[in-house]
Amino acid sequence: MRTARLAEIAKTVGTPCYVYDAVQIRDAYATLDRAFDGYPHAIHYALKANSSLAIVRLLQSCGAHGDANSLGEVEVALRCGFRPDQIVFTGVGKSAAEIDRAVSLGLLAINVESPGELDRIDQRAIAHNLRARVALRVNPDIDARSHPHISTGLKSNKFGVPIGEALGLFREMASRRGLLPVGAHVHIGSQITTLDPLQKAAESVVALAQALRGEGIALQHLDMGGGLGISYDGSPVADPAAYVRALVAATRGSGLKVAIEPGRVLVGPAGVLLTKVVDVKHFDGAKSFVVVDAGMTELMRPALYNAYHRIDPLLRRPGAETVVDIVGPICESTDAYARDRAFPPVEVDDVIVVRDVGAYGAAMGHTYLRRPLPPEVLIDGDQWRVIRRRQTLDELLSLEE
Ligand code: LLP
Repeated sequence: MRTARLAEIAKTVGTPCYVYDAVQIRDAYATLDRAFDGYPHAIHYALKANSSLAIVRLLQSCGAHGDANSLGEVEVALRCGFRPDQIVFTGVGKSAAEIDRAVSLGLLAINVESPGELDRIDQRAIAHNLRARVALRVNPDIDARSHPHISTGLKSNKFGVPIGEALGLFREMASRRGLLPVGAHVHIGSQITTLDPLQKAAESVVALAQALRGEGIALQHLDMGGGLGISYDGSPVADPAAYVRALVAATRGSGLKVAIEPGRVLVGPAGVLLTKVVDVKHFDGAKSFVVVDAGMTELMRPALYNAYHRIDPLLRRPGAETVVDIVGPICESTDAYARDRAFPPVEVDDVIVVRDVGAYGAAMGHTYLRRPLPPEVLIDGDQWRVIRRRQTLDELLSLEE
């Protein structure tokens, strides 16, 4: 993203503000898609990473299908042009309303998380006189070696059913009048930077599918989940094309279609957060702080996971770097984007760029301290436009008495 363009956007739209690059998102999609090299597949964009309508529509127009984790995301996917049979629906605690809607829509697959949920989906499907297409989410007990808050594939995590119970549950699903088992699903975590755990997880569902075939239960797809990481700090991460090739290598023998649910790798690097310096302060002999006008309300990742994001001033002032904390305006000490970071000199009103926030940035934003949601801008080649305007205080308060 060009500096002059970002400066123009900050001036016109104000800060804080999210900016995304459409070209980068299309390229990231094409890289994954091409790497399948003709092998049957579907790329279900994980809406949770960024479900702004314009972003979801952009990925839909690239040929993506959808991965939803709530009824809200299912409805967003539908509004953005996905057909029900292009949507997979996962969620560790689906409500009765969610199950009912998912069943009646006829989604490509409802990813089943437990024996109890299997019963509930069956009952709703029978009530609608339908057969719900279901996939079983298995928990393969594989360590994704990611941040513990975003690892999901260990038996100590709440997700899916232990893989050892999968055969029995598939037999059960196949015997139910309201269920049609179509797939197996695995998702072991997010921001995974090595291929090994992802490949192992893929191999475990392929082995399961082969065993099921031996029992006469023929699946249609294997959903390998999402989880491929990006490089936030410049250290090496697995290459997206190599990731796809590893999944295809694991699956080819089965001939089954591969589904993946990438979020971060598609949109993460394509987004920046523009924020402005509101104060600079030094405690003698101790810390220096750069206070900016965005905080954990706009971007939670640093406060929640101690996540690292590259940060730089939009325009570099001359002078040596000093070590500072870059902090938000929120009344919580966890509200810091960076601690003890070498940073060039800045002054009040300078625009600061927080990088790689296209995924789990705006989507996890909230309005603590009555801070209205920030706007989002999409750059596409020479054009840019506001895809979400800044929330007003009246809108923020509009639900209240
Ligand atoms: N499929 C399922 C079932 C998931 O739970 C997730 C992410 C994905 C796909 C997409 O994963 P990705 O390709 O984006 O890694 N808020 C955290 C990330 C939480 C991810 C939750 N599940 C963060 O900011 O790092």
